[in-house]
Amino acid sequence: MKKTIVFLGLTVAATAGFAGTGMAQSQGIDPIELRQTGMDLLAGDFAGIRAVVAAKGDLKSLEGPAKAIQRYAAIYPTLFPKGTESGGNTKAKPEIWSDTAGFTKASAAMGAAAGELATAARANDEAGVATAVKAVGDACGACHRAYRNR
Ligand code: HEC
Repeated sequence: MKKTIVFLGLTVAATAGFAGTGMAQSQGIDPIELRQTGMDLLAGDFAGIRAVVAAKGDLKSLEGPAKAIQRYAAIYPTLFPKGTESGGNTKAKPEIWSDTAGFTKASAAMGAAAGELATAARANDEAGVATAVKAVGDACGACHRAYRNR
């Protein structure tokens, strides 16, 4: 049941994405601003996770922040509708649109790693958390190398 809801949510988000900037802007949504501020929040969330790990803090408290990364990864590729290839100082590379499957996979890789992080955090599994934190970090770097201009 939960799976169906997630899938429906993704479909709705994807449909909104495909409708393009025209519609998004008529609704007052700026996809470039949304994806960039989202990345800033993601970076803050991840920095907080790493700080807790480094300080040997409460690992269980990391489940929520990890799930937030997982959820954002699921919708992130929908924030690149056609028409937002340029403008608003975007650093998005053209490959996001020419290799959409690869870009979606890169986001899913971060989502999967964040899911493992949430599971390890809930289990208070120190080694599992360390492995998953590294996997999330690797997923950030891999996507940036392929799909973001410096
Ligand atoms: C699926 C690809 C992908 C993944 C995974 C990803 N990023 Fe990004 N990131 C991008 C792209 C593309 C941009 C540029 C977006 C734009 O300018 O329109 C970006 C931009 C950013 C920015 C700059 C935002 C701004 O204000 O313009 C930060 C900071 C950032 N990412 C941090 C991270 C961190 C930290 C992670 C991992 C936890 C991460 N990203 C994972 C693709 C990704």
